[in-house]
Amino acid sequence: MANNKSITLKNITKQYGSTVTALNDVSFTILPNEFKVIMGQSGSGKSTFLQITGLLDSATTGKVIINGSNTESLSKNELAKIRMKTLGFVFQSFHLNPNMRAYENVMMPMFINPEFTSKSQMEKRAKELIDRVGLSERSTHYPGELSGGEQQRVAIARSLANDPDFILADEPTGNLDSQNEKSVFDLLKQLSTEGKGVLVVSHNDLAKEYADTLYTMKDGVLKEG
Ligand SMILES: Nc1ncnc2c1ncn2[C@@H]1O[C@H](COP(=O)(O)OP(=O)(O)OP(=O)(O)O)[C@@H](O)[C@H]1O
Ligand SMILES: [Mg+2]
Repeated sequence: MANNKSITLKNITKQYGSTVTALNDVSFTILPNEFKVIMGQSGSGKSTFLQITGLLDSATTGKVIINGSNTESLSKNELAKIRMKTLGFVFQSFHLNPNMRAYENVMMPMFINPEFTSKSQMEKRAKELIDRVGLSERSTHYPGELSGGEQQRVAIARSLANDPDFILADEPTGNLDSQNEKSVFDLLKQLSTEGKGVLVVSHNDLAKEYADTLYTMKDGVLKEG
């Protein structure tokens, strides 16, 4: 079973203190090639859901199973390894290092991956990924010299650094104009057709047009449709 690629959440709840139930009995599965979108109002629990799915936060109760491993009993190191090999993250505010060139930002996650044994190997892959997201002309630019849409494409290239099975994107078009919204969703969709499982949480109605499966989060409850 260990090689079956999937992320499964079983009966996840997340409580903050004794009053806030951010997630209420959420179950969910995503497989490679799928593009799943979760819509929901501010405060409905979308980011909490994505953080728990991405092993960046832990649930109060319930299980997160990634590629067949129940992550409940894993050490911090083992969780970090799963994150590195299996998951790519994309955030609303890009989270690029302003002091690094575009391709250097893309190299960053490779430094913790023992499969890369030389800097030139990392550089080569980073530049290929920059090409892949259509930014070959901008490879050596700094984030401050790139438009928002270009910065997000660099962040998507970075999410691909260690060839993850899944991409988790939290409001990836939140800081973009409508033309760039489309180019970012087009790119994420393309990656899903090439084999990545892509999970997007968003307010953006445009996301619905890309979803294979659409969900709505309301008060911590996830429903299909
Ligand atoms: N660290 C925390 N401590 C206490 N409450 C929190 C914490 N993080 C989130 N919450 C609460 O959990 C609920 C869900 O928050 P979450 O950030 O997941 O919402 P969201 O759907 O991502 O909202 P937005 O669309 O504004 O990003 C909200 O009521 C929020 O106030
Ligand atoms: Mg959020």
